[in-house]
Amino acid sequence: MDLKVDSEYRCNKCRDMTFIVDEGVAFPCECRALREAEEILKRSGISSEFRNKRFDNFNYYYDVQVMEVYKVARDYVRDFESIEKSRNNSIMFMGQVGSGKTHLSLAIANCLMDRGVGVLYMGYRDSVIRIKQNIMDQVYYHREMNRFKNCRVLLIDDLFKGSISGSDVNIMFEIVNHRYFNNLPMIVSSERCLSEILEIDEGVGSRLVEMCNDYRVEIRGKRLNYRICVR
Ligand SMILES: Nc1ncnc2c1ncn2[C@@H]1O[C@H](COP(=O)(O)OP(=O)(O)OP(=O)(O)O)[C@@H](O)[C@H]1O
Ligand SMILES: [Mg+2]
Ligand SMILES: [Zn+2]
Repeated sequence: MDLKVDSEYRCNKCRDMTFIVDEGVAFPCECRALREAEEILKRSGISSEFRNKRFDNFNYYYDVQVMEVYKVARDYVRDFESIEKSRNNSIMFMGQVGSGKTHLSLAIANCLMDRGVGVLYMGYRDSVIRIKQNIMDQVYYHREMNRFKNCRVLLIDDLFKGSISGSDVNIMFEIVNHRYFNNLPMIVSSERCLSEILEIDEGVGSRLVEMCNDYRVEIRGKRLNYRICVR
């Protein structure tokens, strides 16, 4: 029994069921795509501030290196559907602090979400700390790890930032290795360069290298710190 009046539904056509039954046949309601997009965004962990990091508010004119990085990011978005299931389906931005690595990672995530592809944001440091704090809670541990291991696209922001312990590496290896075996895409940003990542952990690093073979960029030069140099 339904006690709601019409004004309490977000969609009066389907009464928020997202489908309409007509002569015994169910059709998706026109509100369904919108609801699915909202659901993807809710689950992504991407805040409204991050939602505003876009390609069209990214300025790439001031430096040829930045132009190149921007182009790789655009190429990745363009190619995504055709490479998603392949081994080479991920992208990695490395190097200079403040050079727009997170901005471009989010621009990609926002484009993909606009197309209905679910992305999960993982702030490396906070996430790893939280997992470690709850490592005795098996239910929490597995639920969190499974989210990162199995989401359609995982955005790892600031990989290996700060001091790193053996358990930090183990957590990242478990996630990256699972995604590697199952060809699940990752968008990675890190202020470390490739040789540093490989030195921290060759297992994590070499898998990322393989998965980001066509889409991997390292930005160098202090003058490319947008926070203090450009504008
Ligand atoms: N080319 C750009 N055009 C417009 N805004 C930019 C550009 N590059 C960076 N920004 C802005 O500058 C700030 C710093 O950029 P961002 O956070 O993406 O840098 P980062 O490379 O991820 O730095 P960190 O290594 O510290 O994480 C953000 O607010 C971002 O939106
Ligand atoms: Mg960043
Ligand atoms: Zn509806």
